Amino acid sequence: MNSVRFRKFDILLFGSIFFIAAVLSGCDQSGRKEAGVPGRNPSASSTMQAQKPHLVSDLILGRKVFEAKNCNQCHSIFERERKIGPKLKSSRFYGSFLDIFSILWNHAPAMAVQMRREVLDRPTFSTTELNELVSFLYMLPYLGEPGDARRGVALLESKSCFKCHSLGRKGRRDGVPLDSLAVYQSPVVLLQRMWNHGPEMIGRMAKTGTSIPSFSGTEMLDIFAALTEEAKDTSKKVFLGVGFAENGEKLFTDKGCIKCHSIFGEGGKQAPDLGKTVFQSNVSKLTTQIWNHVGRMRQLYDQKNLQWPYFTETEMNDLIVFLYSLNYLDRPGDAAKGEKIFVQKRCIECHFKTKEDKEKLLAAVKASNATQFGAELWNHTSAMEAAMVTQGVPWPEMSGVQLRDVLAFLQKQ
Ligand code: HEC
Ligand code: HEC
Ligand code: HEC
Ligand code: HEC
Repeated sequence: MNSVRFRKFDILLFGSIFFIAAVLSGCDQSGRKEAGVPGRNPSASSTMQAQKPHLVSDLILGRKVFEAKNCNQCHSIFERERKIGPKLKSSRFYGSFLDIFSILWNHAPAMAVQMRREVLDRPTFSTTELNELVSFLYMLPYLGEPGDARRGVALLESKSCFKCHSLGRKGRRDGVPLDSLAVYQSPVVLLQRMWNHGPEMIGRMAKTGTSIPSFSGTEMLDIFAALTEEAKDTSKKVFLGVGFAENGEKLFTDKGCIKCHSIFGEGGKQAPDLGKTVFQSNVSKLTTQIWNHVGRMRQLYDQKNLQWPYFTETEMNDLIVFLYSLNYLDRPGDAAKGEKIFVQKRCIECHFKTKEDKEKLLAAVKASNATQFGAELWNHTSAMEAAMVTQGVPWPEMSGVQLRDVLAFLQKQ
């Protein structure tokens, strides 16, 4: 692996943002136990996607497709540099695979014009590549903005953390030091530590009459920024990737979350359905959401005599990205609506004209999942565009919902 190149891209990609994906070689390995370096094979995610399309949270893979297919020729993401295409704003990529794919689809003709001008071929994608690329776009909002260390120090004071803690020379002299978190480059570590020490900490708070602090907005990121700013020895930094969603899914069961929580209806019923409550999230919102409910959860664990789960290594990191991944999967569409769209957008005129045409289309998409459907569509855009120009059919722009409905309709044939 060409680590020099990755380092450069990491800096480009994330700038001052904490997540430095997979720059693992040569990192300090101290503190491995509480939050350390993942030992899993990061590409495992891409080989398993065949049936159920799922988020590939490994940003390196997606970024590679983004570069290999020349998207970076015309689009910047975090870089300041102005390019031909619009800067890809992370706030745009909330939604499922097909929601994000529809942005690409709708721009296909305008993009093609620019590509011809730049003498670039319109790229085609394998389903794996398309999934990695769309996953990459889906992951952009996850990173959020970096915290503000000065506000973080003020918060440590105003949220009473300094009643019991010290940080460098600040805070309570004989308090529990928070300096050891400084080497980590992911704010999820703060949540993991607070969660692991939750029972003692909450107990101590109850005894001293301090209420459990809750957070809003970017406050947890600000506190984390305050903790990392204390890091004097930068060579000791421990980089965590963004985590692996599949491992997080396993942890959701193994750590017992599923005993109380369901995900889109499956699982326990005593707590909010997390499939529904984590929509349009990011790392800051997710860590905050979990911490703000930790007091109530602790009570319930006690009442039900459940053992408090502890997190080691990158477990919390994996769990959080799993929660973030929940809305990537497309829900089934409405076949009846899909039929109407198929007529309205004039797909029917070209594809159901003869029996052979119909059979050809159905053979291509009947058994497809959303990713395969997207790749089929995309890889035929040039032929379709040409046919549409000849036959005077306007480019059929579609939303993610409409794409889901059309897919449902075709699958029902
Ligand atoms: C030759 C230049 C060029 C290349 C290469 C290119 N794009 Fe674009 N892209 C554009 C232009 C220009 C637009 C704006 C189109 C318009 O609305 O007029 C655009 C629009 C978009 C948009 C919509 C952005 C928004 O906020 O509206 C997305 C997403 C996008 N491109 C992603 C990609 C991806 C992913 C690739 C690589 C597969 C890619 N582009 C390759 C030029 C390019
Ligand atoms: C009433 C006292 C008290 C308050 C207030 C308090 N803590 Fe703690 N905290 C503790 C104790 C005690 C521990 C160590 C628990 C243990 O040893 O398991 C701890 C542990 C921690 C840890 C784990 C440290 C490590 O090295 O892993 C973090 C992180 C932490 N607290 C953050 C905070 C933050 C942030 C605040 C303010 C929002 C806060 N605490 C408020 C008592 C408190
Ligand atoms: C004993 C039952 C129980 C277990 C086990 C449990 N939770 Fe919860 N959780 C709750 C309850 C109840 C709430 C709502 C608390 C409230 O309203 O303050 C909640 C709230 C949440 C929220 C906020 C949801 C929202 O709507 O904002 C998140 C996120 C969450 N839990 C994640 C987890 C994770 C991750 C685990 C596993 C490590 C877990 N929970 C384990 C009972 C549980
Ligand atoms: C103007 C004619 C035309 C229209 C309208 C049209 N297509 Fe196509 N479509 C084509 C052509 C031509 C191909 C390429 C066939 C080939 O390469 O053999 C194609 C290919 C496809 C493919 C790839 C599978 C295959 O049969 O090759 C899919 C999926 C598809 N179209 C879906 C749609 C959908 C959905 C719509 C409506 C939103 C639509 N098309 C509208 C002409 C059209």
